Formats: sequence, structure tokens, C-alpha cells
Amino acid sequence: MHGYPGMTERHEHPWWKSGTVYQVYPRSFQDSDGDGIGDLAGIERRLDHIARLGVDAIWLSPIFPSPMADFGYDVADYCAIHPMFGDLAAFDRLLAAAHARGLKLLLDFVPNHTSDQHPWFVASRSSRTDPKRNWYVWRDPAPDGGPPNNWISDFGGSAWEHDPASGQYYLHAFLRQQPDLNWRNPAVKTAMFDAMRFWFERGVDGFRIDVLWHIVKAADFPDNPANPYWRPGITERDRLIQQHSTDQPEAHAIAAEMRKLADGYGAKGQGRVLIGEIFLPNDRHARWFGTADRPQVHLPFNFQLIENAWEAATLREMIAAYEASLPPHGWPNWVIGSHDAPRIAARIGEAQARVAAMLLLTLRGTPTLYQGDELGIGKVDIPPDRVRDPQELRQPGIGIGRDRSRTPMPWDDTAQAGFSTAEPWLPLNPDWRTRNVAAQERDPASMLTLYRRLLALRRAHPALAVGDFRLLDAADGVLAYERCRGDAVLRVALNLTDAPKPLPFTGAVLLSTLDGARGDTLRANEGIICQ
Ligand code: NOJ
Ligand code: MG
Repeated sequence: MHGYPGMTERHEHPWWKSGTVYQVYPRSFQDSDGDGIGDLAGIERRLDHIARLGVDAIWLSPIFPSPMADFGYDVADYCAIHPMFGDLAAFDRLLAAAHARGLKLLLDFVPNHTSDQHPWFVASRSSRTDPKRNWYVWRDPAPDGGPPNNWISDFGGSAWEHDPASGQYYLHAFLRQQPDLNWRNPAVKTAMFDAMRFWFERGVDGFRIDVLWHIVKAADFPDNPANPYWRPGITERDRLIQQHSTDQPEAHAIAAEMRKLADGYGAKGQGRVLIGEIFLPNDRHARWFGTADRPQVHLPFNFQLIENAWEAATLREMIAAYEASLPPHGWPNWVIGSHDAPRIAARIGEAQARVAAMLLLTLRGTPTLYQGDELGIGKVDIPPDRVRDPQELRQPGIGIGRDRSRTPMPWDDTAQAGFSTAEPWLPLNPDWRTRNVAAQERDPASMLTLYRRLLALRRAHPALAVGDFRLLDAADGVLAYERCRGDAVLRVALNLTDAPKPLPFTGAVLLSTLDGARGDTLRANEGIICQ
């Protein structure tokens, strides 16, 4: 590894604090065997793109055997690789190749539910007296024969599926092909912790944990209250407040045990990392850090840049409230895109997506980047006959489709954008002939070049990676803050509007999202970092 200014200082911190995470959606990164679907050997072939970008860790969405009802978030075996993606040998090669480049590798752990094809569920469903019956959440029908309570699946419809053979219902927070595990059963915990150990022992550096706040439900299964803010046209899930089906105290206790398990695999601070997928208001979100002496996850994912309007005053208030909500031992983190969220460039436009990149990579806290955002991939229309996302298929027409963020990585302007030799499983971004990695590598004004510069700057300046954070006053429509460490002070000003604005400070410009910054004014859609 080569040195860079500030390297020593940066390395006083565990990598998950000073570093950055890059999410790979394996189906759509690189195909190596011509089936139109990405795979592990493909990811290995493209590792240099990730290394050159300058991130520290890769998180892979699920690669385990799965019927793919929810594209891998329906796991049929926690300790193996789906043949479509490769095998354990291919995984070991990928892990070694990542480590050889100084990249950490995180897997996606899906504890809330399995596939209905998982042998555990096949056994559980086979009879009321099967030893695995109690591994899942089975309940008798309501007195009228209907579902046991009013809970709604996140993908629409009742969260309960009737099983005619045994006369009971099983719970599924997502698809009926994704039955919820019963984490109140110690045998489930043992089996799932064994699965974590399996991968830790193979050398993975941590997990992103799927819907962690869902894993335990209120013991008596009361109805969830109605959400007074629900209106037609938004997702059915939001008709109810998930008061009794999520965020139970017992789930926090399990998260603390998961953390203990992870910490057992490395010295304090250098151990394996847990990132929890958790959507909650700040006060309850912050509780997922646990306490200083009984910590839970290292990073409870913070999706507020996705959830809030792209507006300076809103973001300013949100950032202040989030920072204020963190416990003293908590470390912030930021996400701007994922395989579930709309593309940032589709939401706010390409000019502002450049500003968003600067925000993501200069805020205090660990950023997670989503594949393709470094190219500024924007709106992709999925023709109706190519829709694959079960969420969109079950609730069409309300704009919640996820395929548009899962399109294949465009690598160059050859056939299928270099992603595959076959027709990809989802269409490419319409502008792939010009918006691809090869084209952007040659272009000093490209989004890719901007991302590389931002990541290099973050590495070079500990103030950006681990420094303190303070909001600064600025004109309407401008978000400004400083990052400080020791004597080093870096100031950031982001113009979230398309009109010129006064620059709230002076200083030498280290980087602008636009060409040729003069450092005396903020141009329309410009973000600037000054020293
Ligand atoms: C969150 C994942 O990110 C999403 O893709 C998935 O559908 C649900 N959890 C269910 O596992
Ligand atoms: Mg393939």
C-alpha cells in the first residue's frame, strides 16, 4: 500500500470510521459466463474499478442459494453460494483478490426471514408437530377464520399466509415466499449465529444486516395502529404504523449478541463490522448503537439523505438533528443510493447529483456509495414486459419500482456495455454508449472523475474523514459547513439551487463540482471545498 498525507492519522481510527463502503448488486455488476446475470467471477474481474475509485470496503447484496423471488433476499441456504453466482471456491478467490487490493468485503445477512424453499421452512410447514415448527411464526386463524391480526406485508397485502394443510397462518413481513423466522426460539438464534461464524471464519470483514429492526415481534401479536398520514397512492405498508411488528426490545438484545460474536473475531476496533438496515426516527434509531459497554451495530444505516427533500434548509435541519441524536459512542453514516432507492441523479438531476456526491463524501460519518451512482446513472424506464421487481409487480403504478436502480453496470461502448455477452436480465441505462466507465475514465469533467477526486481528498485530509463537523451560516439555498481536525480546517459550500449565490467564506479551492472555480462566488449547482 502506498502512503498519502495523513495516512497515519487516518489509521488511528478503525477503517469503518475513516473509510467508505461501496455497494455491489451482484446480479448487475459483471457477468462472466454469458447468462446475462452478474456473478462472482465478474466482480473479481472488475475489482480494479472499485480499487481505483478509492473506497475501502465492498458490500455484496445476497449471493446465497435462493429461488430469487426477491432477488436473493429470500435465502435457501445461508452457508453456500447460488450456482448462478459461482461457488465457494469462486467466493474465496474474490475475497482474496479484494484483500490483496486492500479492500474489505462485507456480505448481506438476512436474519428476519428465509426463503419458503429453505429446508427449515419446508420442515416447519410439514406438520404442526415437526421439530422445526416453532422456527417460524405460526398462529391460529382469528375467530372468523381470517388472518391472526391486521399486519400488512411491506410488499402489500396481509402479512399472514394461510397454510391449508395445517390450518394455521405463517407470518411474512415481505413476500409470502419469505416466511419470518422466530427469533424468540433459541434454536433459531444458534443456527443463524452459526451462519455468521461460517463467513467470519472464511474471512469476511462484516455484514450488512437486512431489516434488523424487524427480527422480533410483540409476543402477543396485537393489531398495528392505523397511520393517520396514509393516503391512496402511497405504498400499502404505510396504512399502519409498524408499532408491534418491529423495533422490539428483544431485537436490541439480539443485536448486542451479534456484536459480541463479531467482536470475538478481531481486536477492539479492528474486528468485523456490522451495519444494520434500520428505518426509524432519530431517537429510536440511535438506540441501535447500544450502549458503550454493550454495543449493538457499528453503523445503523442512515437513509435521511434519501428520505428528505433536496433543499438546503431541510437538509441543514436534518443533519443537525441526526448529529444531535447520536450517543457519545455513536458514529454517523450516510447513504444516498441503494438497490431499493431511486437513483439520486434521477431524483435531483445530474448537476445536483454532483453536489450530492460532494455532500456524501464530506459529511461527518461513513458514506456508502451505490454502484452506478459514480457514473451519474439517471432515469431508466423499464418497459412493462421487463419489470422483474416483485414490489412493483404487486403494487404497480405508484412509483416504487426498484428495477430502475438495478440495471447493469455499463463498462464501455461495446455490445451490452461490456456487462455480458448475452441480453442482460434488466435493460441498460438508455445512454450507456456515452455514460459508461471507459468513457468517463477519459473525461476529466465526468462524474467518475469527480468521485475519484472526492475520495482521494477524503483520504488525504483526516479533517474530512474523521474531523469534527460544524454547520456554517450561508445564503438561502446554500448548505455550508466546516470539518476540523487539529489545525486543519476545511470548508464546504454546496449550492442546491440553479442560481448563483455568494460564497460564505474565502480560501483556496481544493475541489469544485464544476470546472475552473474562482473561489469568490458559488455558481449555479456548484459545490466547493476550500482550505
Ligand atoms: C431490504 C432489502 O434491501 C430489500 O431489497 C429486500 O426486498 C427487503 N429487505 C426484504 O429482505
Ligand atoms: Mg453470469
